[in-house]
Amino acid sequence: MERQAVLVTGGAGYLGSVLAGKLCAAGHRVTVVDNHATSPRRAPSPGIRHVEADIRDVGDWSAALRGIDAVVHLAAIVGDPACEVDHDLTWETNYLATVGLVGACRAAGVGRFVLASSCSNYGESANERARTLSPMQPKSLYAQSKIYAEHHVLSSRCPSFRTVILRLATLYGLSPRMRFDLAVNTMTAMAVQQRRVVVHGGEQWRPFLHVEDAAEAFALAVGVPAGGSSGGIYNCGSNGENYRLRDIGEMVAAVVPGARLEVTPSATDPRDYQVDFTSSRSGLGLRPGRSVRDGVAEMAAALRHGRFQDFTDPAYSNLALVRAAAGGRQPAMAAA
Ligand SMILES: NC(=O)c1ccc[n+]([C@@H]2O[C@H](COP(=O)([O-])OP(=O)(O)OC[C@H]3O[C@@H](n4cnc5c(N)ncnc54)[C@H](O)[C@@H]3O)[C@@H](O)[C@H]2O)c1
Repeated sequence: MERQAVLVTGGAGYLGSVLAGKLCAAGHRVTVVDNHATSPRRAPSPGIRHVEADIRDVGDWSAALRGIDAVVHLAAIVGDPACEVDHDLTWETNYLATVGLVGACRAAGVGRFVLASSCSNYGESANERARTLSPMQPKSLYAQSKIYAEHHVLSSRCPSFRTVILRLATLYGLSPRMRFDLAVNTMTAMAVQQRRVVVHGGEQWRPFLHVEDAAEAFALAVGVPAGGSSGGIYNCGSNGENYRLRDIGEMVAAVVPGARLEVTPSATDPRDYQVDFTSSRSGLGLRPGRSVRDGVAEMAAALRHGRFQDFTDPAYSNLALVRAAAGGRQPAMAAA
């Protein structure tokens, strides 16, 4: 594999901290840009250059783009509830900053741009697995902002600026920057620390992907030949890992002894979709090696060994962190 200079925006986050380590271990020269809006400052990892900067002010740090072969763009306000706290912040971060970053990358001669997008964009596709050309039916500002960012990135592609868009399933699993506001992670932590698993509604379909396998998708995207039949857009996940939320609750309750499953009738999250992941298998060569059951077992063991004191600590929740930064403003929707 060709070694490259790769800059990862949002590289201190839940996915980014796993990805930065993976790229570094593969021999790439890695630069992380993050303003720590929703991730803590940690001791610098050997071999990784850290730039503390805001993607909305790319003019201030664009010198860091010189000599970079590929940019992986993860930085965003992430999650439906967090994006509702401050709509302006969400548009500025998830869309307008992407426009600015694409312009700065092209000016600096960056040859490849990989955007993190989301299967949330499909919104509603319970009866037929969504493919990359299926209609987008966003149910949230988060998904809308990702769709706008995708359009801009796609419209910027040209032979000297190759673009790849990865629409990720909902992630789960252990990361150096942990999130307990993701469905599988929340249910597992609740099962271990509160001996119960609460599922709201439960009939909604959702695809899931381990954070390590998601990082592998980005590592592959940095090197994959551009174009292909998908136009550079790939759904990332596994066909066998589409589940109803109730299935996840039952799985967690089965893996964590003594945890009681509680299903409440009303769903707090209107998303309901299954996704077809053939595009990333054939186009990227992505073969996710972990299942939700593996992830639940791995997180339950870490929780039992006391690695996380209290999963309800605001440090593990993007909604709580964004809300605190906004001065305690309430989001327009409940946390999912
Ligand atoms: N976690 C999931 O289930 C999931 C699913 C689909 C897509 N994605 C996408 O993957 C990417 C990473 O998600 P994550 O789960 O790691 O979220 P995260 O919140 O842990 O990471 C986002 C990172 O971006 C940084 N950031 C936010 N605003 C910034 C700014 N203005 N300037 C610089 N840095 C800024 C944050 O500090 C954080 O480190 C996001 O683009 C997200 O939309 C995630």
